[in-house]
Amino acid sequence: MAFEWKERYKLGNEEVDKQHRKLFEIGARAYELTRLDNAYDRYDDIMEVLRELLDYAQYHFRYEESFMEKHNFEHLTHHASEHNYFVAKVKSLLTRDIDDEQEQTLLEITDFLSEWVSTHIMFEDRKYTVLFQKF
Ligand SMILES: [Fe+2]
Ligand SMILES: [Fe+2]
Repeated sequence: MAFEWKERYKLGNEEVDKQHRKLFEIGARAYELTRLDNAYDRYDDIMEVLRELLDYAQYHFRYEESFMEKHNFEHLTHHASEHNYFVAKVKSLLTRDIDDEQEQTLLEITDFLSEWVSTHIMFEDRKYTVLFQKF
């Protein structure tokens, strides 16, 4: 399952790993919703998952960006642009007619999130782990 936490996702900072784990948990909840029968109305659950994802991701991104700022991380601008892209994507999902497109929306959330996990966390976030030694 794409949202099962694995040791290899750890970046070596307790707080950052805890926050990433939380994002995985939200992803796992979205994935569970895709497995329910289509006859079941998932509108409220989808909205709840999306809003929580947006809130928590914004909190996490602010945490990472202020950490990078504090240490003058050279790739901050690019990193922040990937965060902004993520936020814009979740916001755009929230503005569509989710009630009529429940299955489609869920598939997009889970696809987008699992892609994000394997690229952003594993590749981009890993780049700033060099800063952890400066604590
Ligand atoms: Fe991150
Ligand atoms: Fe990040």
